Amino acid sequence: MGQRLNNKVAIVTGGGRGIGRGICLAFASEGANVVVDDIDADPAAEVVKEIENLGGKAIAVRANVRHSEEVEEMVRTTLDKFGQIDILVNNAGITRDMAMFKMTPDDWSDVVDTSLKGTFNCSQAVCNWIVPQARKEREEGKTPPCRKIINVTSGAGVRGNPGQANYSAAKAGIMGLTKSNAKEFARHNILVNAICPVALTRMTQDMKEDFAKRIPLGRIGDPQQDIAPVVVFLASEEANYITGQVIPVNGGLDMAI
Ligand SMILES: NC(=O)c1ccc[n+]([C@@H]2O[C@H](COP(=O)([O-])OP(=O)(O)OC[C@H]3O[C@@H](n4cnc5c(N)ncnc54)[C@H](O)[C@@H]3O)[C@@H](O)[C@H]2O)c1
Repeated sequence: MGQRLNNKVAIVTGGGRGIGRGICLAFASEGANVVVDDIDADPAAEVVKEIENLGGKAIAVRANVRHSEEVEEMVRTTLDKFGQIDILVNNAGITRDMAMFKMTPDDWSDVVDTSLKGTFNCSQAVCNWIVPQARKEREEGKTPPCRKIINVTSGAGVRGNPGQANYSAAKAGIMGLTKSNAKEFARHNILVNAICPVALTRMTQDMKEDFAKRIPLGRIGDPQQDIAPVVVFLASEEANYITGQVIPVNGGLDMAI
C-alpha cells in the first residue's frame, strides 16, 4: 500500500467495472477513502468488498450520473460519511453505436446525457461544495489544497469514429468542459484534467488482439496496470502544476493514426 492519497476522499463514477474499478482499487491502495458510484449496485458493492479486504475504506453509492438530484444526494452521502471531497473522477460512460442515418434521438441522448451531462452534473455538484470550502479556507488565511477533477474521455472525441457520432460528440464535449472548468476553477485550486484511455474492457479477446496491431506498443491497456496509475498521478500532489490537459493513455495509438 502506498500513501500518495492518504486522507483524501475520492468519488469515482462508474466505479463498479472496467476502468472505474481499476481506479477505485488504485486510489484505495494509495490510502484514499473511496466512494464507488455505479448505476449497477452489485459490482459497486463487490469493489467495496475488495477495498475493505485490502484494509481500505469505501462505500458504494447508486447514483445515476444523468440525474442531478441523484448526484447531489451522492455528494451529501459522501460528506456525511467522510466529511470532505478531494477528488472526483468522471468515468461513467456508455456506447450505443449506430450508423448516423439510423441513430434515434434516444441513442443520441442516452450516450450524451451519461458521458457529457453526467460529467457536468457531478462536477457542478462537487464544486458546489468545494468552492465555498476553498473561499472559507482563504478567509482563514490558508491556501486551499489542490483538489482534483479527472474526466475520462476518448480518442473518439479527437478523431471521430464511424457509428459513434453520439459517443464522439460527447467525448469531444468533455474535452471542452475540462478546459473551461480548469480555467474557471483554477483560482480555487481545483485542477481539472482528462485522460483518453484504451482498454477495450467490453471487447472479446480476438477483437483486442486485432486492435492491438494498430497500437505502437502492441497491446491493449490494462485498467489497473496501465490506466489507473496515470489517474493516481493526476490526483496526487505530484501533479499539482498540471491543469486543463487531455492526456492520451493509449500505447501511442494517436501517433499511429
Ligand atoms: N474501455 C476503453 O477502451 C475506453 C476507451 C476510451 C474511453 N473509455 C471511457 O472510459 C470510461 C469507462 O469505460 P469502461 O470500458 O471501463 O466501461 P464499462 O462499461 O466497463 O464500465 C462503465 C461503468 O459505468 C457504469 N455506468 C453506466 N452508466 C452509468 C450512469 N448513468 N451512472 C452511473 N454509472 C453508470 C456501468 O454500470 C459500468 O459499471 C467510459 O467513460 C468510456 O467511455 C473507455
